[in-house]
Amino acid sequence: FEPPVVVVPKRHVEEEVDDGKKKVTVFFGTQTGTAEGFAKALVEEAKARYEKAVFKVVDLDDYAADDDEYEEKLKKESFAFFFLATYGDGEPTDNAARFYKWFTEGESKGEWLNKLQYGVFGLGNRQYEHFNKIAKVVDDGLAEQGAKRLVPVGLGDDDQCIEDDFTAWKELVWPELDQLLRDEDDTGVATPYTAAVAEYRVVFHDKPDLFSEDNIQTNGHAVHDAQHPCRSNVAVKKELHSPESDRSCTHLEFDISNTGLSYETGDHVGVYCENLSDVVDEAVRLIGLSPDTYFSVHTDKEDGTPLGGASLPPPFPPCTLRKALASYADVLSSPKKSALLALAAHATDPSEADRLKFLASPDGKDEYSQWIVASQRSLLEVMEAFPSAKPPLGVFFASVAPRLQPRYYSISSSPKMAPNRIHVTCALVYEKTPAGRIHKGVCSTWMKNAVPMTESQDCSWAPIYVRTSNFRLPSDPNVPVIMIGPGTGLAPFRGFLQERLALKEAGTELGTSILFFGCRNRKVDFIYEDELNNFVETGALSELIVAFSREGPAKEYVQHKMSEKASDLWKLLSEGAYLYVCGDAKGMAKDVHRTLHTIVQEQGSLDSSKAELYVKNLQMSGRYLRDVW
Ligand code: 2AM
Repeated sequence: FEPPVVVVPKRHVEEEVDDGKKKVTVFFGTQTGTAEGFAKALVEEAKARYEKAVFKVVDLDDYAADDDEYEEKLKKESFAFFFLATYGDGEPTDNAARFYKWFTEGESKGEWLNKLQYGVFGLGNRQYEHFNKIAKVVDDGLAEQGAKRLVPVGLGDDDQCIEDDFTAWKELVWPELDQLLRDEDDTGVATPYTAAVAEYRVVFHDKPDLFSEDNIQTNGHAVHDAQHPCRSNVAVKKELHSPESDRSCTHLEFDISNTGLSYETGDHVGVYCENLSDVVDEAVRLIGLSPDTYFSVHTDKEDGTPLGGASLPPPFPPCTLRKALASYADVLSSPKKSALLALAAHATDPSEADRLKFLASPDGKDEYSQWIVASQRSLLEVMEAFPSAKPPLGVFFASVAPRLQPRYYSISSSPKMAPNRIHVTCALVYEKTPAGRIHKGVCSTWMKNAVPMTESQDCSWAPIYVRTSNFRLPSDPNVPVIMIGPGTGLAPFRGFLQERLALKEAGTELGTSILFFGCRNRKVDFIYEDELNNFVETGALSELIVAFSREGPAKEYVQHKMSEKASDLWKLLSEGAYLYVCGDAKGMAKDVHRTLHTIVQEQGSLDSSKAELYVKNLQMSGRYLRDVW
């Protein structure tokens, strides 16, 4: 088994020759591949426009081995573009984290970047509080350090159509680059550029004898990361809601004994799950090939030279079409405009091709937002509506269906209690889309249906890896902690409390701890109720406060309970307490933040700006931590 994601070639020392050509470096900080895709798309188009300049696409992590090298190399750059995604609570992507820390926390070096001209495009979502924070900070930072901004920072909004934002931003970039990179003998008229549809070379094979996709091992890598996940079995599965619930929440335990995987309390686990078999069947039908078709995809020509033209996503290992659709294709998200164009290129019915092209065009913008984005139409639904568009496999996997991404969960156990297990607490995503389809979350449905070891030797498994987080208990167990986690936001706090219980059992003195939990109804979705009560009885938790939102006549949320406890909270904060929030970022975390501000203002008799400063300081000193999504 090879991992589903590319192995990014590690840094190699390049001889920089001064051939007089202008060099442009395009950096990306990517999590799901969108920023990387945009970086590559910019370069493809730029190469076609400015033949004499040299363009390089660079993963920020691979650029430099350490801080000194970042400084040394960046100093020499003349033209650079940055594609930077913002995640979670205003955080950089994993591959940009080291660069970002160095860039924002280092000592001021004055205007040391005055040789550099640059542009930044951010990838974010306006629904979140820290919209495009990383891009904005880097954009400002570069200017402050003497670099010249060529275009205003692009604020891509994934809540709407981020491809359109990218296209609009590119239109600002070209006139600038025309001036900087165009040769004197050029006519000055840009050749119109239309992106070619990227396509793998596909080789069909006879299926090898004794081939069983289930038996392929993933393990054996020294380090497990997004590129090298580790196969791990589902040991335990339990439903956490009571039978009368109309929703579902799964408790799942991955067995990590003998895998080399380890974790710390507060970490995240990335899970590569598979599409459900009915989803795969539907995709097979729409593609129109046998599910047993055994094939491989390649990014080079038969003679080994790279395929020219548009950039290709990393290939996946040889497998059947069924396996490829289960593991590597995201077919339930809405298709991007580039996917519509790829479908159009292979639609045999001209009216279908025209309509697909229209949807992807500037004139079709409103219809695209309505018919595709607002109605959450999946790629499969779109393909169903355009039955003549049957792209070949090389096109389908390169340009139509994006790669299925891992899903991240806050680990709900502590290695102190469960060294060989990673616990996950996962609410089922099951909702009706505006177009009337029932959307079943890929990973949450997989977890709900997983077969645990306790039921069968032939249990479910998934490639997983551990992503380190900064969501940690204070190193001194005497420091008080305030935890706020309604719904599955409880997950990391169950880990925290397991850790505190283990410390307590080992004879450690513990400071005060309060947990605010929220659910709809005590009898239905009060998950881990017995365990939480046990934490109180054993003294791992000093106080458990629960808000039931659908029991009384009025909604009761965690923030209402916080207000009732305002003076206790203020006292704990004054004693140096750490405050943690986990759960929904769009509603809950914002409301909790506002409530915190009010509590600080009222209890501390501060004016609004002083209260804001107080909360900022909590954040800056690492005492107010959020794990939100
Ligand atoms: P509700 O579903 O009744 O609105 C876990 O999901 C709990 O969080 C539920 O009780 C849910 O209540 C509640 N919740 C929903 N929106 C919230 C918000 N903005 N702030 C705090 N809790 C919220």
